[in-house]
Amino acid sequence: MTIRKVGILGCGQMGAGIAEVCARAGLETVVMEATDELLDKGLKRVAGSLERARDKGKIDAAECEEALGRLSGTLDVGALSDCDLVIEAIIEDLELKRQALSELDAKLDSAAILATNTSSLTVTELAMSTSRPGRFVGLHFFNPVPVMRLVEVVRTLMVEEAVVDTVVDFVKKVGKEPIRCRDNSGFIVNRLLIPYLLDAIRAYEEGVGTLEEIDAGLRLGCGYPMGPFTLLDFIGLDTCYYIANIMFEEYREKRYAPPSLLKQMVQAGRLGRKSGRGFYSYE
Ligand code: CAA
Repeated sequence: MTIRKVGILGCGQMGAGIAEVCARAGLETVVMEATDELLDKGLKRVAGSLERARDKGKIDAAECEEALGRLSGTLDVGALSDCDLVIEAIIEDLELKRQALSELDAKLDSAAILATNTSSLTVTELAMSTSRPGRFVGLHFFNPVPVMRLVEVVRTLMVEEAVVDTVVDFVKKVGKEPIRCRDNSGFIVNRLLIPYLLDAIRAYEEGVGTLEEIDAGLRLGCGYPMGPFTLLDFIGLDTCYYIANIMFEEYREKRYAPPSLLKQMVQAGRLGRKSGRGFYSYE
């Protein structure tokens, strides 16, 4: 099976990035949002990013126009019915995801593949809310999607091997490197990344160094592009807190338990770059 038309449910930061890479790769791409306002904002996000890529000379003007021409938006789930692949990229809320996936499942052709961009929920649980667990995978992209080269392709016990091969080809077609991994909370990357970020907060709480010193340590000593606190602010403290709680729930191990400073910062509305303040100030 070849993927020609892709649907993307949700056009926030991740959904918009996924839509952009699909449209740039020559695939017909339709994004679905819940309201006119969110759809307009999401489509503008994709267009803005494509125009920035054009202005930086990464794509030429014709490629930018063609990519925009392949992109459309809808509020109606029926508009996704002829997609070969639909990727769900809404917020990390199990019930909302289940509901959205089951509505989508009812509209899609039986041959279509459904995927979730979840970063911490188990794909199995989401697959079982549809009638097609054999044609359901995890496709975990990384932020910022246009830049980060990796996509985790997550296989459950139920998925058909041919479906995994099809999505691996799709990931390559959109210019990314696939790695296959088994379904478990956090997959490969977050299983290692989240405890590292939480440990950095614990080290800071214990007074090991300042935010800047800990960040410089990992950036300059290990060559990481961002230190842990810059990365926490970049991902969003609410997102990290949410993922940590799901992983703690799954593994019941202390290394996934969110430190109290993280919880308090989320409660205080210091969510990182998106709110103007997290560990650092962006005002
Ligand atoms: N969209 C498109 N391009 C972007 C971009 C965006 N949002 N942000 C940066 N870029 C591009 C820039 O245009 C620039 O491209 P050129 O070099 O070709 O001009 C390049 O990326 C580098 O950007 P900058 O020079 O502005 O800044 P930088 O060198 O500090 O790089 C970064 C920015 C790519 C984000 C880099 O700091 C980085 O890789 N950080 C780590 C990001 C990371 O770890 N992401 C994973 C988060 S975890 C996750 O997503 C999973 C989860 O489930 C939580």
